[in-house]
Amino acid sequence: MKTLYLKPTKKGMEKAARIIRSGGLVAFPTETVYGLGGDATDVGSAAKIYAAKGRPSDNPLIIHIAKAEDAEKYAVTSELYYRLTGAFCPGPLTVILPKKDTVPYEVTGGLDTVAVRIPSHPVAHAFIEACGVAIAAPSANISGSPSPTTAEHVKADLDGRIDAVIDGGECDIGLESTIVKIKDGAAVILRPGAVTEEMLDAVVPVGRDESLFDKPDENRRPEAPGMKYRHYAPSVPVTMLKGPHGDVVSYINERLCGDGRTGVICLTADKDKISGKNVFYLPDDQAGQANALFSLLRGFDKTDAPHIYTVTPTRTGIGFAVYNRLTKASGFDMKRVGVTIPVIGLTGQSGAGKSTVAEAFEKRGAFVADCDKIYHGLLYKNSPLTTAISKRFPFAVRDGELDRPTLAEAVFSDKEKLKLLNSITHGVILDEVRNRLKQAQRDGYKFAVVDASQLFESGYDAECTAVVGVCADGKTRIKRIVERDNISRDKALSRISGQHNEDFFRVYCDCIIDNDGDLEALYGKTDGIIRKYVR
Ligand code: TXA
Ligand code: MG
Repeated sequence: MKTLYLKPTKKGMEKAARIIRSGGLVAFPTETVYGLGGDATDVGSAAKIYAAKGRPSDNPLIIHIAKAEDAEKYAVTSELYYRLTGAFCPGPLTVILPKKDTVPYEVTGGLDTVAVRIPSHPVAHAFIEACGVAIAAPSANISGSPSPTTAEHVKADLDGRIDAVIDGGECDIGLESTIVKIKDGAAVILRPGAVTEEMLDAVVPVGRDESLFDKPDENRRPEAPGMKYRHYAPSVPVTMLKGPHGDVVSYINERLCGDGRTGVICLTADKDKISGKNVFYLPDDQAGQANALFSLLRGFDKTDAPHIYTVTPTRTGIGFAVYNRLTKASGFDMKRVGVTIPVIGLTGQSGAGKSTVAEAFEKRGAFVADCDKIYHGLLYKNSPLTTAISKRFPFAVRDGELDRPTLAEAVFSDKEKLKLLNSITHGVILDEVRNRLKQAQRDGYKFAVVDASQLFESGYDAECTAVVGVCADGKTRIKRIVERDNISRDKALSRISGQHNEDFFRVYCDCIIDNDGDLEALYGKTDGIIRKYVR
């Protein structure tokens, strides 16, 4: 078959729409990645899509519509659907809904639900309108390879296998849409994307999907079937490196000395420390990383790199989507460097009981680094850290001594001040943590736990084998804070109000411990975590 390359003009769009109406396939640009479109109501078109991509037929397609109400024809909508689409659509969000008979089971991989998305890209919008029917469209790549973010990527994978490509230039976002399923009145993230947990949380409760963090399991069907496959992957193995950045840089350089062909994904900030013919640099900012990732992964197929090593990004905001795609590209192959014993990061809201959980791990043989205690230890009279703080918060330091309650009060309710304080303290605390973990490793400890309320904000999550979130209900937490810190209920409330809510931890942590005071259950949970990540 000869593939037509169409311009996004009125004429080009009309031609594309005619192809769709006669049962053909057209790749088109969206704000996320290029899609491979066919008539979503036509069994034959669906079959062609699966064949062209080489995609397993149990992996359902997303249907693309022009406006939120168009979903009525294809799916059972709800108040929550309209709240979500009202806030984020048109845009990079896909919502899973119960399907209607207009959508054949061939499109939904046999499921009774259908994924609905309203793209914001003007070409996608005009194309869907011109077709006059919902467009089923997976990413326009050969199954398993990185999604296409330019028409050239589509050509490389699908030339001669599809009827046409509309060339709309480079996609803005560069990673596929956020997929959510509505469950118990909450939006559960099945695939992270540019609509982040924080953005969703401002509109609806956010739920947790356990399969997001796990290596695909043959015996379990994940909520989004497509997430079980190795995906987004270049043709050679990919390994994520986890450890102190300096150690990661040294490890990469040792590899590069070996054969010079090693493939590397690092940050632009590393440019003067890491170089080589197969070294690629991601932008330092998270949105830039999302935008560049797939194109960069594709670039390796034109090199002689036998293996690719990549730095690990921190996983909050859109970084979560970048982290997720890298775990899929690597098939969850992660290597620890510098600190090679497993490290469990422990985080959560004040009063949830992190210390109790840390103690449980300690009783099972963990070395525990408590960041709060380390912070205290670094704040002696006229210490380098105390002096650094006094320069930006002079009111909180008297005669070379830090008045912690005064500082706490100033920052707990002011996010900007808290950020400033964190930028001074995080690096210093984490360097101390890394030193202690290296010592613990020499001392023969088999694993370590890092207890840090600011684990994600500091970026230390990227160095952890797994991140455990400790959660407890609000009332219990306030009671615990009042008793522990001997402060008023109001003060405890204001402290909590400045923190992330529970949804944040439920979404970003590898696993959750609900600490309702049942110690036996808590020990059971910690033992399970040790079995999974330590042995
Ligand atoms: O940004 C995007 O979403 C792009 C553009 C083209 O819109 N599309 C895209 O489609 O990424 P695709 O097919 O590459 O990924 C669709 C994902 C798969 O992981 C699939 O398993 C999941 O959505 N999915 C589709 N229908 C589903 C359903 N009914 N229930 C659960 N997951 C579903
Ligand atoms: Mg895809």
